[in-house]
Amino acid sequence: MKLSFLNNPIETIFIEATKYCNLKCKICHLAGLQKKGLLPGISSFSKKEGHLSYRLFEKIINDLLKFENYKNIRINLSGGEPFLNPQIFKILRHSQEYGLKIIIFTNGTCLKNEKDFQKIIKASPYMLIFPIDGSSSAHDTIRGNGNFKRVVNTILHLGKMKKNFKSENLKITVNVVINKLNVESFDKAIPLAQKLGCDMLFFTLVQWSDSLIIDTFIKESRERFGAYKGRARIIEGIDHKLGILNSREIEKVITKINLIKRRVQQDFGFPIFFVPDLMHSNEIKAWFSRGCYKIDYCSNAFSQIRMDYNGNVYPGCVISSALGNINKEPLEKILNGEKAKKFFNEIKTRGFFYICQRCCRRSPQSLILKNL
Ligand SMILES: C[S@@+](CC[C@H](N)C(=O)[O-])C[C@H]1O[C@@H](n2cnc3c(N)ncnc32)[C@H](O)[C@@H]1O
Ligand code: SF4
Ligand code: SF4
Repeated sequence: MKLSFLNNPIETIFIEATKYCNLKCKICHLAGLQKKGLLPGISSFSKKEGHLSYRLFEKIINDLLKFENYKNIRINLSGGEPFLNPQIFKILRHSQEYGLKIIIFTNGTCLKNEKDFQKIIKASPYMLIFPIDGSSSAHDTIRGNGNFKRVVNTILHLGKMKKNFKSENLKITVNVVINKLNVESFDKAIPLAQKLGCDMLFFTLVQWSDSLIIDTFIKESRERFGAYKGRARIIEGIDHKLGILNSREIEKVITKINLIKRRVQQDFGFPIFFVPDLMHSNEIKAWFSRGCYKIDYCSNAFSQIRMDYNGNVYPGCVISSALGNINKEPLEKILNGEKAKKFFNEIKTRGFFYICQRCCRRSPQSLILKNL
């Protein structure tokens, strides 16, 4: 039997490894929520609270092991910064025991010493994804001074360790988030990733929201789900100033994207793709301009799910409040319960949401991500 969300086999589970982060990146909802007082800062959490516990992770895995497709389900550990979780290496070792496909999004600033690197190599997750914004100055403007050097050194060192320990199956990937602060240099991430020996690179268009998008979403959520709460609130954290480009900047982004796409047909030495991969310049223009409209395609509303560090389970996107909690019910029961059915029927009968316009899963090309 496969783990399914109302008959759709689950392909990816995003798990919040921690709510903490050591950085305050200008593009990130986490930093934005803190600034607006909607999320307590790092100093407000006790050492234990706010992290995914090893015990809960073990419970999630025990639930998964009952299903024949558990080895095909990608487990994306994100957050927050996963390497701030004091039990992260214990969690990784446990995943390795069962041959799980673990992908970790990390800012590359928290692996402090040789021992940490050795632990990663030993635990051998499937993939580590690091952010690189293009030039060092763009990166540091977005993520804080010194963080470009830190992430580059981390990737370099990991690359060396991979060779020394013959751990070639650990994949190193770069994620470049295209936004107002790196229009001039986002494409510079390609030669850098080549130099660093990375295995893959993907460009993400910055997800952003302004008051129109937030208000429309709140209204839709209340109308369709009777509630606007929980994960949905992350959309309030993203600063629209980093998503709205002027016409010169939009032209520049479109030209660069087209150029990269033409070159992708030749060879960069590693796969490069865009999420979402918008096919028409007008769509890219709309992404980076004010306004919102409905889309009619989503590659993952029913094949991905998310869990927060407390065990609350959500569909794979910002829409809807929690479907249930894994501490109270088994995962398969949550994914086939009344709340799951309501979510499914809402989408099936009344279509997607305005917010979906700026979601990275809105194009069929996002499917490429599924083939990792
Ligand atoms: C939210 S972070 C969490 C994991 C880790 N702290 C990190 O920075 O990789 C996961 C990824 O989302 C990207 N990201 C942050 N804000 C974004 C936004 N507004 N739109 C698209 N991607 C964003 C980050 O650059 C990072 O690659
Ligand atoms: S992008 Fe990652 S590192 Fe930056 S603030 Fe968000 S969670 Fe932290
Ligand atoms: S496109 Fe919409 S429904 Fe699909 S994952 Fe994104 S926000 Fe959710």
